[in-house]
Amino acid sequence: MKIEFRHEALPQLAGSALVAYAFEGSPASSGTVERLPPDTRGFLEELQAGGELTGKALECTVIHLPVGLAASKLLVVGAGKREKFSGEQLRQVAGTAVRYLRARGVHDLAWVLGGAEPGSIAAIVEAALLADYDADRYRTERNAEKRIDGLGLATGGDPLPAGAEAALEQGRIIAEAQNFTRDLVNEPANQMTPTILAARAEAMALRCGLDWQVLGPAEIQGMRMGAFWAVAQGSEEPARLIVLRYTPEGAPAEPVIGLIGKGITFDTGGISIKPAENMHEMKTDMAGGATMLGVMQAIAQLKPRVRVMALIPAAENMPGGKAYKPGDVITSMSGKTIEILNTDAEGRLVLADALTYAQQLGCTVLIDAATLTGAVTVALGNITTGVFGWNKEWVNRVLAAAKAAGEKMWELPVDDDYRDLYKSAIADLANTGGRHGGAITAAMFIGEFAGDTPWVHLDIAGTRWANEEKPYRAKGPTGHGVRTLVQLLTDLAP
Ligand code: BES
Ligand code: MN
Ligand code: ZN
Repeated sequence: MKIEFRHEALPQLAGSALVAYAFEGSPASSGTVERLPPDTRGFLEELQAGGELTGKALECTVIHLPVGLAASKLLVVGAGKREKFSGEQLRQVAGTAVRYLRARGVHDLAWVLGGAEPGSIAAIVEAALLADYDADRYRTERNAEKRIDGLGLATGGDPLPAGAEAALEQGRIIAEAQNFTRDLVNEPANQMTPTILAARAEAMALRCGLDWQVLGPAEIQGMRMGAFWAVAQGSEEPARLIVLRYTPEGAPAEPVIGLIGKGITFDTGGISIKPAENMHEMKTDMAGGATMLGVMQAIAQLKPRVRVMALIPAAENMPGGKAYKPGDVITSMSGKTIEILNTDAEGRLVLADALTYAQQLGCTVLIDAATLTGAVTVALGNITTGVFGWNKEWVNRVLAAAKAAGEKMWELPVDDDYRDLYKSAIADLANTGGRHGGAITAAMFIGEFAGDTPWVHLDIAGTRWANEEKPYRAKGPTGHGVRTLVQLLTDLAP
């Protein structure tokens, strides 16, 4: 998608479609509709009087050959109640315009900017690119011909606010990174083995100038990553530990942020095998790893002055002849022993060793993202990511970044009283804590391997995938979490 500022006066702006938004109650004279020429607004007044134009949230009204405009169509998108208008609503409006128009064969649109501050320019660009995404790469008849090729940001001749060009670029970088994550998550497990995930990470690192390293089975065993290896050993597909490093010049020695992403490329449950129904969804069990790859791609381009490392333990959880079994006791890299009560609680095992290794590599803050538990979906649904951690300062930083980035996240508790739930009769820890409070005990299990290092855990099991289409986004992989972490890292050191 080619995105550029357009400086023509709005009536003269030629092209397929001009897009403006308006608020409920006075749709012919509010929002960016206010910027349209009087003739055009006069016509909109009539539609408003006739009840055809209401300004209700995400209502789309198309006017063909609009009076007073050179554009062949005018799309007015409802922005809902003015009091409730926010950055998030702006994103939804922009995304809705893109999906509405491209479904009708429009390939280029011009978005009428309001008194645009750079923040909203970034949000509009992001929303447009995210809305133009479809998870249809395996269809022979793709929606490709429906894509939007050109997005004009129409100033109407007003001078650009300072930072407008940079905001456009920033919006593009972040949305492309989130779409990269979505592409990885969307791949079926036969096209996304640990080896392929590592190759995709390597290609991205080369493209963006990041240091990278990929370790295989011999190294994983050699470093005594017994918990990671326990999960990996049940599959014919060799495991990979992907390590990416972003070390900008002039960055302070600390903090070193470790981003650890669960990279289970398929989760059958192992010997504690999952029911057949919906098992195909477990191709998305590497979404945490994909999130971290998207974040690394974005920061390699945005260049905040902070050191960051990504670690992605990638494996398939399979019930092979060498698979680990319920009752097995394994020794993690940290030395802590773990009794396996359920081989389907594999995510916390691979993350445990990755957290230990991240500390060995010098990370001073640990943030993990994982499709860890069904329980978090019971608690928060598909809308909100669960956030956990003992360190209030870092948990709050993540929550503030989520808010600023327009992703919904909510803190769930960690508390010593839950620790009894994952005690083992014969080892240091058990790998499950039972059904009740399942998202909490899973998170706390990982936290046991963070030592005193500040650690925040994001359980994205619910938010990784959208089961329903929305006017502003396709059904399928969401890339949820990428924007929050990019925001966090750029806030740390702009
Ligand atoms: N990958 C799953 C969690 C999951 C469930 C992700 C649904 C996305 C959608 C994880 O490995 C798992 O199987 N968790 C178990 C833990 C249980 C055995 C303690 C769960 O949530 O049932
Ligand atoms: Mn599992
Ligand atoms: Zn899993």
